[in-house]
Amino acid sequence: MNLPPDLDPQKIPQHIAVIMDGNGRWATSQGLPRIAGHRQGARTLKELLRCCKNWGIKALTAYAFSTENWQRPLEEVDFLMLLFERLLRRELAQMHQEGVKISCIGDLSALPQSLQTEIEHSMAETVNNQAIHFTLAVNYGSRNEITRACRQIAELVEQGQINAAQVNETLVEKHLYTADTLAPDLLIRTSGEMRLSNFLLWQMAYTEMYFTDIFWPDFDREALYQALLSYQKRDRRFGKVKPLLSA
Ligand code: FPP
Repeated sequence: MNLPPDLDPQKIPQHIAVIMDGNGRWATSQGLPRIAGHRQGARTLKELLRCCKNWGIKALTAYAFSTENWQRPLEEVDFLMLLFERLLRRELAQMHQEGVKISCIGDLSALPQSLQTEIEHSMAETVNNQAIHFTLAVNYGSRNEITRACRQIAELVEQGQINAAQVNETLVEKHLYTADTLAPDLLIRTSGEMRLSNFLLWQMAYTEMYFTDIFWPDFDREALYQALLSYQKRDRRFGKVKPLLSA
């Protein structure tokens, strides 16, 4: 499964972040219960990960469960927790063989113990893999992450290990869950919603955004291809002025 010929291999995003929205609406549109949408969504994610790897994308970060998602009906929350655990358990061997490095970000301490164990095991097993870095955001919220970083840094100041003048962007970044990873180049959000929903707010300062009406379970290779075509037409200036080609 090679890169489609009209995509420029020099302009492939290194890191894609996805907000997988529309599982519930997809299921309803098929006359199915909401959880069927999440189950199909998990299959879609697996396929997308493989496709990203084959097309030379080095990192994929997926928003699986937000700090606000606990407010969903209990059965749905329980189902999602089971689904994450099952995905890690069933797919670990295959992902490891394909060179996937697995990470999880978020406040993992609030997750069921069995899921925490599965996460720790998956991360430890795949820590040296290099084909693609796959990060699942579970019980993740950006405001929570930034607040946590502030608290940790305040403690360092309080203990006299650093002084306030030493607090800079690099230091803040070191205290985020995503320390040592590159910021996303492209964010994809499905199902027609156009907001960030507390996802990677710091990290996405210069990320290109792509929104599509497709429900997440239908987000296939063709849909990724369309997102990449759009991304490759963007002019990324990072706040600078583009130099004139000729005087
Ligand atoms: C948003 O759709 C989706 C979620 C909150 C859950 C995302 C989880 C998956 C895609 C499951 C696969 C992931 C793993 C790691 C196994 P929604 O339920 O808000 O849809 P709606 O807006 O149509 O109701």
